[in-house]
Amino acid sequence: MANHENKTLTFRIRRYGTGGKAHEHYWQEYKVEAMKGQSVLDCLNEIRFKQDGSLTFRRSCRSGICGSCAMTINGVSRLACETQVMTLGTETVTVEPLKGFRPIKDLAVDIDPIPEKLLAVKPYLITKTPPPSDQERLQSQAERSRLDGLYECILCGCCTASCPSFWADEKYLGPFAFLKAYRFIADSRDEGEREHFEALDDKHGLWRCHTIFNCVEACPKSLNPTKAIAALKRELVKNRIG
Ligand code: SF4
Ligand code: SF4
Ligand code: FES
Repeated sequence: MANHENKTLTFRIRRYGTGGKAHEHYWQEYKVEAMKGQSVLDCLNEIRFKQDGSLTFRRSCRSGICGSCAMTINGVSRLACETQVMTLGTETVTVEPLKGFRPIKDLAVDIDPIPEKLLAVKPYLITKTPPPSDQERLQSQAERSRLDGLYECILCGCCTASCPSFWADEKYLGPFAFLKAYRFIADSRDEGEREHFEALDDKHGLWRCHTIFNCVEACPKSLNPTKAIAALKRELVKNRIG
């Protein structure tokens, strides 16, 4: 039953790979009686469960942790589970797959490039000296604080999907891979700077970033890949000169 906090919204969804239109994108509209507090994911679930079971999208945690519900909502890369539908302020909500990623079915895209780009920067501690015999490799509080803003990435891909350099070059490593590389390069325990930098100093690497800041605006975790990219570029130049 409608009340003053409900609103009938039109969901305009860009679909792919369903029905008789196996390899075509097409738009389909659904009406949803949305309530204050509902997320875009809640509305998509309502469509799938009550109107059209063929509508396909990824989701898992519903809590902004797994990164699987990343999609383009009203033209912006966002997490569907973290986007309150009423805050969008539009009667029509446009939902499309993440930009730049190969579509598989409806809003689900091929996310294989995410682990591929991540693994290219060797996203783990590389050490060369043996650990102390009587304790772990320790950090001071200040050393640990340097990792704040670098380790929280949930690999949703919103940043990369918003990046014009990625749209132009699908092999571009992209913002989350740079952020992850810097998370290890900035770690006082890491001794593998050269190994992390290998993939970064490449034609599909750091130098393709034109500092457009789309990635910063898109990140649902308020991280700043552009700042990490600038720090990585400085390190790289310093090491070349030094
Ligand atoms: S700042 Fe760099 S990585 Fe971020 S969106 Fe722009 S070009 Fe892409
Ligand atoms: S940096 Fe932000 S937008 Fe990019 S993958 Fe990580 S959490 Fe998602
Ligand atoms: S469902 Fe996990 S982040 Fe949205």
